[in-house]
Amino acid sequence: MGEPFIRVRGLEQKFGEQHVLRGVDLDICGGETLALIGGSGAGKSVLLKHLPGLLQPWKGSVEVDGTDISTLNERELAPFRRKVGIMFQGGALFDSMTVGQNIAFPLRESGEKDEREIARRVSETLEIVRLPGQEQKMPSDLSGGMRKRVALARAVVDRPACVLYDEPHAGLDPITADSIDHLIRDLNEHFGMTSVVVTHEMRSVFHIADRVVFLEKGRIYWSGPAAELKVTRDPVLRPFVDGDSGEPWN
Ligand SMILES: Nc1ncnc2c1ncn2[C@@H]1O[C@H](COP(=O)(O)OP(=O)(O)OP(=O)(O)O)[C@@H](O)[C@H]1O
Ligand SMILES: [Mg+2]
Repeated sequence: MGEPFIRVRGLEQKFGEQHVLRGVDLDICGGETLALIGGSGAGKSVLLKHLPGLLQPWKGSVEVDGTDISTLNERELAPFRRKVGIMFQGGALFDSMTVGQNIAFPLRESGEKDEREIARRVSETLEIVRLPGQEQKMPSDLSGGMRKRVALARAVVDRPACVLYDEPHAGLDPITADSIDHLIRDLNEHFGMTSVVVTHEMRSVFHIADRVVFLEKGRIYWSGPAAELKVTRDPVLRPFVDGDSGEPWN
């Protein structure tokens, strides 16, 4: 593959005395599906938030599509936020807005004013996530799996080149979790979307990932093809793959 779409170099992040990211180097290539795994508190969500510039590096740099975004201001970041969509951990929908308004939000943020065009794209995206015609519902009226799919619709409605999914499977039954995987794969196949998926669901990792990155204590401990992870004998990775990582939800 050619130039990476996202290039992270020497990324460090600190919150007070807590050194959360301790020097992360990572290339994300256009069109690939990368799974980011690791224990709770490893720094996965924090790493993800640097990619659309929602957090600024303490040290190091993040390049998106050839531009170092680590020193840009909010206004300068706007076009990069359009290239890199994010589905936050827990969905994080705006509870006072309808489903339709939630999904329309990124379109309005990027300056779309044509109401008919907005309605058309919201409706089209609801079909992609298999929730056709649900525009008028309130988030509180949806099941957990439906909320996840609305959050996913909001992350992809503006057709970003890259989508970051933070725990899209958490709290879902296996069938609904599979349907999220299908969506991620469909978006990759139909639009060439680059995906970064943070998940504890190893089943999904083996279903969708071209490559896996294992983060531990703010550093990349291991990175390689999913097939290699499956047969690993590494004492840190193996329990994780077997779903015996000591995490309460496994
Ligand atoms: N804005 C913040 N301010 C202070 N500390 C933070 C902030 N964001 C994250 N942290 C801390 O950074 C560490 C890593 O958090 P992060 O959310 O990246 O973990 P994670 O790998 O995503 O874990 P999980 O699998 O539980 O979601 C945690 O100790 C967390 O408390
Ligand atoms: Mg997290």
